[in-house]
Parts: sequence; C-alpha cells; structure tokens
Amino acid sequence: MFVVVGVTGGIAAYKTVQLVRLLVKAGHEVHVVPTDDALRFVGLPTWEAISRHPVTTSVHDDVARVRHVSLGQSADLVIVAPATANTLAKMTAGIAEDLLGTTLLATTAPVVVAPAMHTEMWRHPATVHNMAVLRERGVIVVGPEDGELTGGDSGPGRMSEPEVVLAAALAAVGASAPGDLAGLRVVVSAGGTREPIDPVRFIGNRSSGRQGIAVALAAADRGADVVLVAAHVEEGVLAEASVRPSVRIVSAGTAEELGTVMAAEAASADVVVMAAAVADYRVAEVSPLKRSKDAAPEGGITLDLVENPDILAGLVRGRRGGQTIVGFAAETPGEGETLLDRGRRKAARKGTDLLAVNEVGWARGFESPDNAVTVIDAAGEVVAARRGSKRDVAEALWDAVLAVRPDQQLTQSRANPK
Ligand code: C5P
Repeated sequence: MFVVVGVTGGIAAYKTVQLVRLLVKAGHEVHVVPTDDALRFVGLPTWEAISRHPVTTSVHDDVARVRHVSLGQSADLVIVAPATANTLAKMTAGIAEDLLGTTLLATTAPVVVAPAMHTEMWRHPATVHNMAVLRERGVIVVGPEDGELTGGDSGPGRMSEPEVVLAAALAAVGASAPGDLAGLRVVVSAGGTREPIDPVRFIGNRSSGRQGIAVALAAADRGADVVLVAAHVEEGVLAEASVRPSVRIVSAGTAEELGTVMAAEAASADVVVMAAAVADYRVAEVSPLKRSKDAAPEGGITLDLVENPDILAGLVRGRRGGQTIVGFAAETPGEGETLLDRGRRKAARKGTDLLAVNEVGWARGFESPDNAVTVIDAAGEVVAARRGSKRDVAEALWDAVLAVRPDQQLTQSRANPK
C-alpha cells in the first residue's frame, strides 16, 4: 500500500517514527511529509532513513514530478500524526501552503488523524468545531488519549500510541491487522537448484519458485523480516519481492550454494522454510570445458552423480532454540500408498516441525498459480489443508507455523486472512 504519513509540529512526532517503522516493516511504501515545524522535533534524516524515501516539506522541491499533487493522488491512505490544533484548523479551511497541505487537498484516499495538543486547545470551541467538520467530511480521528502531557499537565491531548494509530488506519482501508509475524526473522528458500554439467549445461527441475515466493511475501505482509534465498526461479516472479523493504533476496545457484547460504541465514532465524526444490544429486566431475559429442563414446554417455547433502535435515540438526523448521514434500504417490503415508515418513526422517505435502505430476503442482497442500506436524498429524492460490496456501502455512510455535500465546491469531 502507498501510505503518506504527515507529521506536524508536536513533541509526539517521536512516536510517529515508530508508526513509520511499523508501516515499513509491514511492507508498505511510506512517504513522510513533515511540516517545517515538525522538523524541529524530529529531523529530516531520521524520516528519510526510516521511510527509505526522500523527504521534503516544500512544494517547490521535485517540481518536475508535480510532487505537490502526485503524493496525494498516489496515496491509498494518508495518516497525519501528530496532528496539531494548527494543522487540523488548516485542514478544515483547506489551506495548502506546504506539501502536506497540498497533499491533503489532492487526495481522495482515507485520511486518519491522530491529534496531539494541550487539553485547553483540544477543548477550545475552534478546535471542537474543526473536528466536527473534519469528521463530517469522513476524516477518521484516533485519540487523543487522556494522560500526561508535556510540561506536567494532564488530560485529553496525548497522541495515541503508534500501534493504535496503525490499527485504526489499516481498519480505515479495510486491511487486516498486520503483524502476527511481527518481530520474527524468517528465511524462505524458493526455486530449483541447477547442478552444472559443464559451462553451458545443467541438471535442473521444474520448480518456478512461485510457492516459496508466496510464502516469503505472505510473511512480509504479516510483519516478519524475511530473507528469501532464491535458487533458479521463473522469469518475473521475483519482481514483487524485490521491491519489498522487509524482504532481502539472496541468490543461490546450486544445492551446495543453497546449503551454505541457508546455514548462514538460519543461524539468526526464528522460522526456516525450505520450499526450494533441491537437486538430490550433482554431477561428480563438472567439466571445465563444454563437453563435446566428438569426444564422447558412440551411442551415449554416462554421467556420474553424487548425492547432495540434505539441507533441510542439516538445518534440523543444527537448529537454534525456539526455531521452527518447515519443509515441503512434492510427491507422486505410487501404488498402494497415499500421499500422506509418504509425507509422514518424510517428516519423521527429516525431523521437521511442519511438512507441507503436495501432489505433483506432469500437470500438477509445478509452474501453475494454484496448489493443494496438506500440512503435517512432527507427530504426523494433519494440522492444515488448503487448496487454492499459492498465496492462500502460504497463508495457511503461516497460520500453522504460529499454532506450533512455543511463543504462539504471545502472538494474536490472524483474524482476517486475505
Ligand atoms: O526428500 P525430498 O527432496 O522430497 O524433501 C523435500 C524437502 O527437503 C524440501 O523442503 C526441500 O527443500 C528439502 N531438501 C533439502 N536438501 C535436499 C533435498 C531436499 O533441503 N538435498
């Protein structure tokens, strides 16, 4: 979501730093528009660093891109926090003497304000009138709270806490509450490894990376810090992940490279998801030169393959305390056995906390936008089953992860899955 956060000149601007941080962590594109006065409380470098976008107060900067209206036009949501009595008055009158004023006039997005001022100012008939006008226009007002104010006064006037402003703002645009994975560091592998034969050939597989990337994006949208370890993925599927501030992408080509990256990244992760299709074998001797048919025996050649280490099993062996490890099992069940039988045996062998089992075949599982998985826990019990888009499957997987994590009571369950 494209979110504009207006900041005006109150001491509570320090709380808005946290608000912006929460929005960015939840994967939103955040543009901060402070007033000149706001910058006396929290400086421009802080806003730029935390929002990861350039920040200006003036309508005269970046004129070529018509910034004075483009921000408001692009916004899906505008939050003004803190909103001083002065800014609320200007909003009521439609005064547009700075970038925040023009942005507010140019937007048709929901506007949420979090007032902060002394009690006398909040209760002044002018402010009371302004708030009534703004409410009537559809502006959503969060707070102010009753409590201690600067200078030792107390009463209504404290800006609501950032989490409260965020929840109200997201509710205003119909977004589900973020952050049931907030604070978790998550590593997800995706795509298929390629095992070289020579400089131009490899042994690969049909994994597109879509399921793993959907798992990574769902985690990011639910507030996690995500490392996406990408083996070979289909053209274009990384685009969305590559612009998410809370997703860091690391590339890995072969199973060995993937293993090295996963081991390093898992060392600081709370949850590891191995969605990559890792080649079980690699070519014993990779030819430094392109293998030529001329030098090959007549009728065919034989490639010696050696087994790759099982990365997932290795991660389970080296897991840190409290870490949840999730595997995928793409299966083509044979005669006389079910998909679940195979999944259960695999879960026991690998020691995963959760294993997402899905049937694959010539026309099933790979490359398609949809998937159907059954998730089993360490005891082989089915804890979730979902058929739908790869994103739906990803959401169900994260619900299952939360349910098995020891800290699950600290996290609220996701009430409104997308
Ligand atoms: O044994 P199988 O390949 O079916 O196991 C699938 C799961 O194990 C996936 O999560 C996959 O990422 C992981 N795996 C691995 N290292 C391998 C082979 C598979 O981590 N060498």
